[in-house]
Amino acid sequence: MAHEKGAILIVVFGTTVSRAAEAFDRFEIEVKKRFPDMIIHWAYTSSIVRKKLAARGEKKESVIESLEMLARNGFKRIIIQSLHTIAGVEYHKMRREISIFKHKHISQDIVLTVGSPLLSSYEDVECTAKALIAGFPQKRKSDEALIYMGHGSKNHASDLAYTALASVLKRIDNLVWMGTVEGYPAFDEIVKECKISGCNTAFLLPFMAVAGDHAINDMAGNKEKSWKSVLEKNGIRCRPLLAGTLDNVGVRNIWLNHLEKAYRNNERK
Ligand code: CO
Repeated sequence: MAHEKGAILIVVFGTTVSRAAEAFDRFEIEVKKRFPDMIIHWAYTSSIVRKKLAARGEKKESVIESLEMLARNGFKRIIIQSLHTIAGVEYHKMRREISIFKHKHISQDIVLTVGSPLLSSYEDVECTAKALIAGFPQKRKSDEALIYMGHGSKNHASDLAYTALASVLKRIDNLVWMGTVEGYPAFDEIVKECKISGCNTAFLLPFMAVAGDHAINDMAGNKEKSWKSVLEKNGIRCRPLLAGTLDNVGVRNIWLNHLEKAYRNNERK
């Protein structure tokens, strides 16, 4: 592979929150360390995020734009790594763009492989659960709960990964909940369960790559429907922590291992 120009394309939903995007830079440093010969490039799957950033003068590329750019620049080995949490809507959007690209460049012998999102097997689910518990950044008393906010996707089969993760988490620690904004497990159930448990304090954390808009507003914000407001109305004191899963070393390593696998597959082709 050394004689060919290789690139790693890291694909994220994206974020308009600049502080959150700093986690991408930190991740890039680790990728660079593991794959020093590779060029690293980023693509955002969210067109809304790309539009908002463009209006601020920060140009981000879509998956197809990035792939076209890499092809124009003569890259023959491309490894794509998704930093999505599940193989949901955004991941499949990425796969579609990759298919279009492949079809268009069929004669150019570009070798392209794709690394899976975070929760792609039962093993991933178990490793993620352990990483979340082990990597929790604060001192926590035995009667303090931990509530994670995943994104979720009501209309997608991969939404089930959150329920699987919730069940593994429960097995390790009775006071840890995994909820979602747009799928299952649903937040109302978590409020009920948390109340029954007798906890009067809960740490809130995003279960998304970065602590972006959902974490800041829907989780930790002060509006009436935010998770913090609803829990506090139910007598549970909240301590939101704005750090995404890219800030958790164990979770990061799962993504890096998926990338490693895609890299090896690429070499073999
Ligand atoms: Co959303």
